[in-house]
Amino acid sequence: MLYGICLRPCGRDFPTDVKSLTARCANRLRKGRKVEQTIPPMTHPNHNEFVPAMSQIAREAGSLLMEYFRQNVKVEYKGDADLVTVADRKSEILVRERIKARWPSHDILGEEQGLVDTGSDYRWYVDPLDGTTNFAHGFPVFCVSLGLEHRNRRIAGVVYDPTRDELFAAEQGSGAYLNEQRIQVSKIANLSESLVATGFPSHKRHKNPNIHFYHQITLRTHGVRRAGSAALDLCCVACGRFDGFWEFNLNPWDTAAGVLIVEEAGGKVSDFQGGPFQVNSRETVASNGLLHPALIHEFVEIFAGRGLEPLPEVQTYRK
Ligand code: IPD
Ligand code: CA
Ligand code: CA
Repeated sequence: MLYGICLRPCGRDFPTDVKSLTARCANRLRKGRKVEQTIPPMTHPNHNEFVPAMSQIAREAGSLLMEYFRQNVKVEYKGDADLVTVADRKSEILVRERIKARWPSHDILGEEQGLVDTGSDYRWYVDPLDGTTNFAHGFPVFCVSLGLEHRNRRIAGVVYDPTRDELFAAEQGSGAYLNEQRIQVSKIANLSESLVATGFPSHKRHKNPNIHFYHQITLRTHGVRRAGSAALDLCCVACGRFDGFWEFNLNPWDTAAGVLIVEEAGGKVSDFQGGPFQVNSRETVASNGLLHPALIHEFVEIFAGRGLEPLPEVQTYRK
């Protein structure tokens, strides 16, 4: 994972490598990675009706986040390690205002204010700041995530990372884009050659079994990254930086946009058994499609307790 500069007064610097990041993505694009899967038929009448306006809203909210990121914002607790800041709240207020101004009849589910349900055919899923823990600690990996459904079908998604000025976007049937360049998933076909990602929720941490999966999958891949923003993890699968991603107990605002972006980039998203992904599902596995059977196989095996690599004794590392 590559990082930009931390502009907070804490003075912590991070390696800047945005140029090589862009070059790497461009290289991957030049290699002509093709969308492998059949693009699902359009159910919504207008291509690209939403993405331009959504992008504008996400960029505006991203700028607001960056203003707060440069200050030392106060951290509040929603749970024992579940953080929230003024930036989360202000960003959601801004996003809701912009959506309401343009699409007054649409319903919105946002992380900080919950659901306004009027029975509209359209529902927005808003994560005004995905990666709050990173944000609160000055670690520059966070984003704004806006997903839109029409009659329960994902039709548009935008994820904006203001620290790198990277805007990921997809509209159903129109492909996925990073800063207006078409993106596609990677071509890695062997789990043993893959780089994958996961995350750990900040609430009900004692009930999350993911550390076992982290251990097992680490030993079967080139590695597992845990960057702290599920929406960006999904976008990294979409543009081939990661070959797969999984997480337990994500919320609809974490996944709604990123899942469509992965699918439109030619990837696959499912539950842990390989069944269709549902936005309210507590199970998310995303991949480049080629790795999906292998990842699902690992999940089935780990859940069944088969073929597990034992944890070494603490003293083993000295030998
Ligand atoms: C969190 C991030 C993190 C994931 C957690 C989410 P938040 O969202 O996406 O990567 O592991 O499960 O809750 O709280 O920063 O919006
Ligand atoms: Ca989130
Ligand atoms: Ca959030």
